Amino acid sequence: MWKGRFSQDTSSLVQQFGESISYDWRLFPHDIAGSIAHARAQLTAGLLTDHEFSAIQRGLREIEADIVAGTFEFKTSLEDIHMNIEAELTRRIGQAGAKLHTARSRNDQVATDTRLYCRTEIDGLLEAITGLQQALLDRAEKHAATVIPGYTHLQRGQPVTVGHHFLAYVEMLERDKSRLADGRKRLNLSPLGSGALAGSTLNLDRSAIAAELGFDGITHNSMDAIADRDFIAELLFGIALCGVHLSRLSEDLILWCTAEFAFAALSDAHTTGSSLMPQKKNPDVCELTRGKTGRLVGNLLNLLVALKGLPLTYNRDLQEDKPPLFDSVDTLRLILAVNTEMIAALEMREENCRAAAADPMLLATDLADDLVQHGVPFRHAHELVGKAVAAAIRTGTPLDQLDLAAIDPAFGPHAKQVFSLERALAARTNPGSPSISNVRAEILKWQATLK
Ligand code: ARG
Repeated sequence: MWKGRFSQDTSSLVQQFGESISYDWRLFPHDIAGSIAHARAQLTAGLLTDHEFSAIQRGLREIEADIVAGTFEFKTSLEDIHMNIEAELTRRIGQAGAKLHTARSRNDQVATDTRLYCRTEIDGLLEAITGLQQALLDRAEKHAATVIPGYTHLQRGQPVTVGHHFLAYVEMLERDKSRLADGRKRLNLSPLGSGALAGSTLNLDRSAIAAELGFDGITHNSMDAIADRDFIAELLFGIALCGVHLSRLSEDLILWCTAEFAFAALSDAHTTGSSLMPQKKNPDVCELTRGKTGRLVGNLLNLLVALKGLPLTYNRDLQEDKPPLFDSVDTLRLILAVNTEMIAALEMREENCRAAAADPMLLATDLADDLVQHGVPFRHAHELVGKAVAAAIRTGTPLDQLDLAAIDPAFGPHAKQVFSLERALAARTNPGSPSISNVRAEILKWQATLK
């Protein structure tokens, strides 16, 4: 492609070192769509005849079909997807193929292809995340009223319901979707026409190309458009954070499936056994989700570090943007698919949840709130309940069986009725709190939003 200036062939080691075709072949549908839009603008500008344009379009569609069929032979010597397609087009249709690269560089070409790829993948991820939200919502609905302890510091804190717990992840995933969708808006501008870095003297209609490719508009600085990989960084961050959320969900499930917690059971289809210990049922999907999230975070760092020292505009380092991008997209897609299936089949062990939630200590805060309602300042109430808790521990008496009035007369006869889980949950009616009616209302809201 650049033989005019060179008198030696590229060393085969350099070809091996520099190729990207082994991974960027995946950009082919976008490369072909971009080339057809570009050729149409050349036609409008009088740079191609109707006949040449038709030959280019037909040739590109045939190449696309061959790639899909698996019969296209990619050549490492042609470095990347752009040159593989263009060289094959010229081989098939002759001179017209050699005109395609007029007023274009691989720099604006790869920037365009990558934006189109990200756009398509974001749409797929949004759908997949919604699928996982629906699975969580289904479990939340089934267990809207199943009470479990809520934890801070992994110490039992206050009662919540399983429904409320799952809805927390539905919220996180909704934010993940809005972050991806927001990045999609920013990336949906066409860089084509930016050329190598300074546009072209052959001024093709950039807006027409953008419209054909479904972009919302065009980029406004050719140098920025060539050098910009912000959209990949944003996507990798969005993916990494979604992974972090699912890693936290994994950790909850791993704990819940231990003999110590025993709040939940994963299905046989989503766990593995041990080759040595016959009793084992291991939550590998959760552990791998947690483990693979490390890669998602690493991919984001990989890209940011690659970008940080680059002068404007294109530098070959940018070719290294795609392996982390493809890996993160593929990995999150798999994580979402397998977690959706696993959550859909998750069983809660309700009696164990109920038993854990029956711990009267979970209502210590409610006891303090009760004192407050009877005029005791909260700090003082906290201290009084703290004394009661200490007495309960010291004497081995459950908190709800203590003679509270003997500890302090401020605990009136009303204190006893604090120890009802139904009452405790029913009282949590403020928006965002886990009363069963709140949780059910949230479930209805989500069912309407996600369908
Ligand atoms: N394979 C290259 C990449 O992915 C395409 C752009 C090459 N541009 C260049 N000026 N060498 O980044």
